[in-house]
Amino acid sequence: MTASDQPAEPTLPVGVGPWPGGPDAWPDDPRYDRDLLAHGDARNVVDAYRYWTMDAIVADLDTRRHAFHVAIENWQHDMNIGSIVRSANAFLAAEVHIIGRRRWNRRGAMVTDRYQHVRHHESVADFAAWADAASLPIIAIDNVPGSVPLPQADLPEACVLLFGQEGPGLSPEAVAAASGVVEIAQYGSTRSINASAAGAVVMYEWCRRWA
Ligand SMILES: C[S@@+](CC[C@H](N)C(=O)[O-])C[C@H]1O[C@@H](n2cnc3c(N)ncnc32)[C@H](O)[C@@H]1O
Repeated sequence: MTASDQPAEPTLPVGVGPWPGGPDAWPDDPRYDRDLLAHGDARNVVDAYRYWTMDAIVADLDTRRHAFHVAIENWQHDMNIGSIVRSANAFLAAEVHIIGRRRWNRRGAMVTDRYQHVRHHESVADFAAWADAASLPIIAIDNVPGSVPLPQADLPEACVLLFGQEGPGLSPEAVAAASGVVEIAQYGSTRSINASAAGAVVMYEWCRRWA
């Protein structure tokens, strides 16, 4: 049998269908969205939030968000930003900060940005002033001279993890605004991993220590 003779993989349904039993069986809870109850819920949400309105999900997340924030410089419309926002949602960051251009590439976020608080700062100076007012140390993440390997690095419970862009990495102003710079050890030939991969590694490590 050749590969082309193989039967096609059946496509698995995504999410859940209409609430079983019809409208008479719908739960009497304002967190449930009547349209989703009627038509099913194929959104990328964990099962506990199936059929919930977006506002109800955000309100519930807000009761248990972690103390770390995530920031990324956006001077070049970097595609990684969406993926970082998705990881910030998965690891339940307090907020995401976009520094530089207001418009950012949402593609990799897969709609997770709607469940995340995202704040814009015009410049590194504005961002640093905000972090200072919020008493949040800025921890820069990059593999530049002087950076501390992640296992030995201080990751305070309340902090902002600041990432750079593909190509240039963190700007000198961003590194100067940070109270520490943290690197992820690498072993191959490439100079770096992409910013969203670095984001997932460091957010996972923060959660391992604090969540
Ligand atoms: C593609 S890297 C570019 C910069 C890198 N400093 C270089 O020399 O090529 C983009 C961003 O990903 C993150 N990153 C990539 N690899 C990293 C690593 N090994 N350790 C810490 N951060 C890293 C940093 O936030 C960095 O600013």
